[in-house]
Amino acid sequence: MEFSDDLIEALKMAKRVVVLTGAGVSAESGVPTFRGPDGIWKKFKAEDLATLDSFMARPELVWEWYNWRRDLMSNVKPNPGHMAITEMEVMFLSFWLVTQNVDGLHQRAGSKKVLPLHGNIFDSYCMECGKYYADPPFKDGLPRCSCGGLIRPDVVWFGEQLDPELITKAFDAAEKAQVFLSVGTSAVVMPAASLPVVAKRSGAYVVEINPERTELSDMLDEFIEGKSGEVMPELVKRLKAK
Ligand code: OAD
Repeated sequence: MEFSDDLIEALKMAKRVVVLTGAGVSAESGVPTFRGPDGIWKKFKAEDLATLDSFMARPELVWEWYNWRRDLMSNVKPNPGHMAITEMEVMFLSFWLVTQNVDGLHQRAGSKKVLPLHGNIFDSYCMECGKYYADPPFKDGLPRCSCGGLIRPDVVWFGEQLDPELITKAFDAAEKAQVFLSVGTSAVVMPAASLPVVAKRSGAYVVEINPERTELSDMLDEFIEGKSGEVMPELVKRLKAK
Protein backbone atom coordinates (compact mmCIF):
# COMPACT_ATOMS: atom_id res chain seq x y z
CA MET A 1 0.00 0.00 0.00
CA GLU A 2 1.32 3.43 -0.96
CA PHE A 3 1.01 6.42 1.38
CA SER A 4 1.61 10.01 0.34
CA ASP A 5 4.96 11.58 1.21
CA ASP A 6 3.03 14.41 2.87
CA LEU A 7 1.36 12.05 5.34
CA ILE A 8 4.51 10.07 6.12
CA GLU A 9 6.54 13.26 6.52
CA ALA A 10 3.85 14.82 8.76
CA LEU A 11 3.73 11.70 10.95
CA LYS A 12 7.51 11.39 11.17
CA MET A 13 7.77 15.03 12.31
CA ALA A 14 4.71 14.99 14.57
CA LYS A 15 4.90 15.19 18.34
CA ARG A 16 1.16 15.40 18.91
CA VAL A 17 -1.17 12.96 17.15
CA VAL A 18 -4.88 12.27 17.59
CA VAL A 19 -6.87 9.36 16.19
CA LEU A 20 -10.67 9.54 16.18
CA THR A 21 -12.49 6.25 15.71
CA GLY A 22 -16.05 5.15 15.08
CA ALA A 23 -17.94 1.92 14.59
CA GLY A 24 -16.05 1.16 11.35
CA VAL A 25 -12.88 0.13 13.22
CA SER A 26 -14.83 -2.66 14.94
CA ALA A 27 -16.64 -3.79 11.78
CA GLU A 28 -13.86 -6.25 10.93
CA SER A 29 -14.23 -7.75 14.43
CA GLY A 30 -17.87 -8.50 13.64
CA VAL A 31 -19.56 -5.61 15.45
CA PRO A 32 -22.27 -4.09 13.25
CA THR A 33 -21.97 -0.38 12.45
CA PHE A 34 -24.85 2.06 13.01
CA ARG A 35 -25.37 3.46 9.53
CA GLY A 36 -25.04 1.98 6.04
CA PRO A 37 -26.92 -0.93 4.44
CA ASP A 38 -26.42 -3.41 7.35
CA GLY A 39 -26.30 -0.75 10.05
CA ILE A 40 -28.09 -1.10 13.37
CA TRP A 41 -30.19 2.02 12.73
CA LYS A 42 -31.71 0.30 9.65
CA LYS A 43 -33.22 -2.35 11.92
CA PHE A 44 -34.01 -0.27 14.99
CA LYS A 45 -34.97 3.35 15.40
CA ALA A 46 -32.48 5.24 17.53
CA GLU A 47 -35.25 7.12 19.28
CA ASP A 48 -36.92 3.81 20.25
CA LEU A 49 -33.81 2.50 21.95
CA ALA A 50 -31.04 4.99 22.53
CA THR A 51 -32.75 7.81 24.40
CA LEU A 52 -33.53 8.39 28.07
CA ASP A 53 -37.24 8.77 27.27
CA SER A 54 -37.42 5.38 25.60
CA PHE A 55 -35.49 3.78 28.47
CA MET A 56 -37.91 5.26 31.02
CA ALA A 57 -40.89 4.14 28.92
CA ARG A 58 -39.65 0.61 28.11
CA PRO A 59 -36.61 -0.25 30.24
CA GLU A 60 -36.99 -4.01 29.69
CA LEU A 61 -36.85 -3.63 25.92
CA VAL A 62 -33.86 -1.28 26.03
CA TRP A 63 -32.04 -3.60 28.46
CA GLU A 64 -32.79 -6.55 26.19
CA TRP A 65 -31.15 -4.69 23.32
CA TYR A 66 -28.13 -3.72 25.41
CA ASN A 67 -27.73 -7.26 26.74
CA TRP A 68 -27.81 -8.55 23.16
CA ARG A 69 -25.10 -6.07 22.16
CA ARG A 70 -23.04 -6.74 25.31
CA ASP A 71 -23.17 -10.44 24.53
CA LEU A 72 -22.13 -9.86 20.92
CA MET A 73 -19.32 -7.49 21.90
CA SER A 74 -17.94 -9.80 24.57
CA ASN A 75 -17.63 -12.56 21.98
CA VAL A 76 -15.49 -10.64 19.50
CA LYS A 77 -11.80 -9.79 19.48
CA PRO A 78 -9.79 -6.68 18.61
CA ASN A 79 -8.71 -6.73 14.94
CA PRO A 80 -5.43 -5.59 13.32
CA GLY A 81 -6.83 -2.03 13.08
CA HIS A 82 -7.23 -1.79 16.87
CA MET A 83 -3.77 -3.34 17.32
CA ALA A 84 -2.12 -0.86 14.96
CA ILE A 85 -3.70 2.09 16.76
CA THR A 86 -2.39 0.69 20.06
CA GLU A 87 1.09 0.51 18.54
CA MET A 88 0.84 4.15 17.41
CA GLU A 89 0.25 5.30 20.99
CA VAL A 90 3.93 4.95 21.93
CA MET A 91 5.32 6.36 18.68
CA PHE A 92 4.60 10.00 19.54
CA LEU A 93 5.33 12.32 22.46
CA SER A 94 1.63 12.99 22.90
CA PHE A 95 -1.09 10.72 21.57
CA TRP A 96 -4.84 10.59 22.17
CA LEU A 97 -7.32 8.10 20.86
CA VAL A 98 -10.79 9.63 20.88
CA THR A 99 -13.37 6.91 20.31
CA GLN A 100 -17.12 6.93 19.85
CA ASN A 101 -17.18 3.17 20.36
CA VAL A 102 -18.58 1.62 23.52
CA ASP A 103 -17.35 -1.93 22.78
CA GLY A 104 -14.08 -1.66 24.76
CA LEU A 105 -12.09 -3.24 21.90
CA HIS A 106 -9.45 -0.48 21.87
CA GLN A 107 -8.87 -0.99 25.58
CA ARG A 108 -8.73 -4.77 25.10
CA ALA A 109 -6.16 -4.23 22.34
CA GLY A 110 -4.03 -2.43 24.93
CA SER A 111 -4.72 1.23 24.18
CA LYS A 112 -4.24 3.34 27.30
CA LYS A 113 -4.63 6.91 26.10
CA VAL A 114 -8.32 6.54 25.25
CA LEU A 115 -11.10 9.10 25.58
CA PRO A 116 -14.29 7.01 25.27
CA LEU A 117 -16.73 9.81 24.44
CA HIS A 118 -19.87 7.67 24.33
CA GLY A 119 -19.21 5.52 27.42
CA ASN A 120 -18.65 1.83 27.90
CA ILE A 121 -21.33 -0.76 27.27
CA PHE A 122 -19.89 -3.12 29.91
CA ASP A 123 -20.45 -0.60 32.72
CA SER A 124 -23.76 0.45 34.18
CA TYR A 125 -24.82 2.62 37.07
CA CYS A 126 -27.74 3.25 39.39
CA MET A 127 -29.87 6.20 38.33
CA GLU A 128 -30.67 6.95 42.01
CA CYS A 129 -27.39 6.68 43.91
CA GLY A 130 -24.86 6.52 41.06
CA LYS A 131 -23.27 3.22 42.17
CA TYR A 132 -21.39 1.48 39.34
CA TYR A 133 -21.91 -2.15 38.37
CA ALA A 134 -19.87 -4.34 35.99
CA ASP A 135 -22.43 -7.10 36.16
CA PRO A 136 -25.77 -5.58 37.20
CA PRO A 137 -28.10 -7.89 39.15
CA PHE A 138 -31.18 -8.63 37.01
CA LYS A 139 -34.50 -9.50 38.66
CA ASP A 140 -37.73 -9.85 36.67
CA GLY A 141 -36.08 -8.49 33.50
CA LEU A 142 -34.57 -5.38 35.08
CA PRO A 143 -31.38 -4.70 37.01
CA ARG A 144 -31.94 -3.03 40.39
CA CYS A 145 -29.39 -1.42 42.68
CA SER A 146 -29.05 -2.36 46.36
CA CYS A 147 -30.73 1.01 47.04
CA GLY A 148 -33.72 -0.04 44.92
CA GLY A 149 -32.92 2.36 42.05
CA LEU A 150 -33.04 1.37 38.40
CA ILE A 151 -29.65 0.62 36.82
CA ARG A 152 -28.89 1.92 33.32
CA PRO A 153 -26.07 1.26 30.86
CA ASP A 154 -23.11 3.67 31.10
CA VAL A 155 -23.49 4.93 27.55
CA VAL A 156 -24.40 8.32 26.19
CA TRP A 157 -27.86 8.40 24.62
CA PHE A 158 -29.14 10.81 21.99
CA GLY A 159 -29.88 14.16 23.58
CA GLU A 160 -27.54 13.54 26.53
CA GLN A 161 -24.44 15.55 27.38
CA LEU A 162 -21.03 13.97 27.01
CA ASP A 163 -18.74 13.85 30.04
CA PRO A 164 -17.43 17.44 30.13
CA GLU A 165 -13.94 16.35 31.16
CA LEU A 166 -13.62 13.92 28.25
CA ILE A 167 -14.95 16.32 25.65
CA THR A 168 -12.72 19.15 26.91
CA LYS A 169 -9.69 16.87 26.65
CA ALA A 170 -10.75 15.72 23.16
CA PHE A 171 -11.14 19.28 21.83
CA ASP A 172 -7.91 20.35 23.46
CA ALA A 173 -6.08 17.42 21.85
CA ALA A 174 -7.67 18.16 18.44
CA GLU A 175 -6.58 21.81 18.64
CA LYS A 176 -3.01 20.86 19.48
CA ALA A 177 -2.69 17.91 17.09
CA GLN A 178 -0.17 18.08 14.26
CA VAL A 179 -1.67 15.00 12.61
CA PHE A 180 -5.27 13.92 13.07
CA LEU A 181 -6.62 10.62 11.68
CA SER A 182 -10.39 10.06 11.44
CA VAL A 183 -10.91 6.32 11.11
CA GLY A 184 -14.13 4.37 10.54
CA THR A 185 -16.62 7.07 11.42
CA SER A 186 -19.41 8.49 9.30
CA ALA A 187 -18.66 11.81 11.05
CA VAL A 188 -22.27 12.88 11.46
CA VAL A 189 -22.83 12.66 15.21
CA MET A 190 -21.89 15.82 17.08
CA PRO A 191 -19.76 16.85 18.81
CA ALA A 192 -17.30 14.10 17.79
CA ALA A 193 -17.81 14.92 14.10
CA SER A 194 -16.50 18.44 14.61
CA LEU A 195 -13.14 17.25 16.00
CA PRO A 196 -11.49 16.69 12.57
CA VAL A 197 -12.72 20.13 11.48
CA VAL A 198 -11.31 21.76 14.62
CA ALA A 199 -8.00 19.97 14.05
CA LYS A 200 -7.89 21.11 10.43
CA ARG A 201 -8.66 24.71 11.38
CA SER A 202 -5.92 24.59 13.99
CA GLY A 203 -3.37 23.54 11.39
CA ALA A 204 -3.21 19.75 11.70
CA TYR A 205 -2.70 17.46 8.73
CA VAL A 206 -6.06 15.68 8.74
CA VAL A 207 -6.63 12.34 7.05
CA GLU A 208 -9.74 10.21 6.81
CA ILE A 209 -9.53 6.41 6.52
CA ASN A 210 -12.78 4.78 5.45
CA PRO A 211 -14.00 2.50 2.63
CA GLU A 212 -16.63 5.17 1.83
CA ARG A 213 -16.40 8.91 1.53
CA THR A 214 -18.18 11.02 4.17
CA GLU A 215 -19.37 14.61 4.28
CA LEU A 216 -15.99 15.53 5.70
CA SER A 217 -13.84 13.87 3.02
CA ASP A 218 -13.55 16.91 0.78
CA MET A 219 -12.66 19.27 3.63
CA LEU A 220 -9.67 17.30 4.85
CA ASP A 221 -6.12 16.92 3.56
CA GLU A 222 -6.45 13.34 2.39
CA PHE A 223 -8.98 10.58 2.04
CA ILE A 224 -7.57 7.05 2.14
CA GLU A 225 -10.10 4.60 0.78
CA GLY A 226 -9.83 1.34 2.68
CA LYS A 227 -10.60 -0.71 5.74
CA SER A 228 -9.11 0.23 9.08
CA GLY A 229 -7.84 -3.34 9.65
CA GLU A 230 -5.86 -3.14 6.40
CA VAL A 231 -4.77 0.51 6.20
CA MET A 232 -3.74 1.08 9.84
CA PRO A 233 -1.31 -1.88 10.12
CA GLU A 234 0.26 -0.88 6.78
CA LEU A 235 0.64 2.68 7.99
CA VAL A 236 2.35 1.57 11.21
CA LYS A 237 4.63 -0.75 9.22
CA ARG A 238 5.55 2.13 6.92
CA LEU A 239 6.35 4.38 9.90
CA LYS A 240 8.57 1.75 11.47
CA ALA A 241 10.49 1.26 8.24
CA LYS A 242 13.61 3.40 8.07
P1 OAD B 1 -21.48 4.80 11.70
O1 OAD B 1 -22.19 3.49 11.60
O2 OAD B 1 -22.30 6.04 11.53
O3 OAD B 1 -20.31 4.87 10.63
C1 OAD B 1 -19.42 3.80 10.44
C2 OAD B 1 -18.41 4.23 9.40
O4 OAD B 1 -17.46 3.20 9.30
C3 OAD B 1 -19.00 4.43 8.00
O5 OAD B 1 -18.52 5.66 7.48
C4 OAD B 1 -18.45 3.24 7.21
O6 OAD B 1 -18.19 3.57 5.84
C5 OAD B 1 -17.16 2.99 7.94
N1 OAD B 1 -16.63 1.62 7.85
C6 OAD B 1 -17.29 0.45 7.63
N2 OAD B 1 -16.44 -0.58 7.65
C7 OAD B 1 -15.21 -0.07 7.89
C8 OAD B 1 -13.89 -0.63 8.01
N3 OAD B 1 -13.67 -1.94 7.92
N4 OAD B 1 -12.86 0.21 8.24
C9 OAD B 1 -13.05 1.55 8.34
N5 OAD B 1 -14.26 2.12 8.22
C10 OAD B 1 -15.33 1.33 8.00
O7 OAD B 1 -20.71 4.80 13.10
P2 OAD B 1 -20.11 6.03 13.92
O8 OAD B 1 -19.53 7.05 13.02
O9 OAD B 1 -19.27 5.45 14.98
O10 OAD B 1 -23.64 7.00 19.04
O11 OAD B 1 -21.43 6.61 14.59
C11 OAD B 1 -21.31 7.62 15.53
C12 OAD B 1 -22.29 7.44 16.64
O12 OAD B 1 -23.61 7.27 16.11
C13 OAD B 1 -22.10 6.17 17.45
O13 OAD B 1 -21.11 6.31 18.45
C14 OAD B 1 -23.45 5.98 18.06
C15 OAD B 1 -24.30 6.22 16.83
O14 OAD B 1 -25.58 6.61 17.04
C16 OAD B 1 -24.25 6.73 20.20
O15 OAD B 1 -24.70 5.62 20.45
C17 OAD B 1 -24.32 7.89 21.12
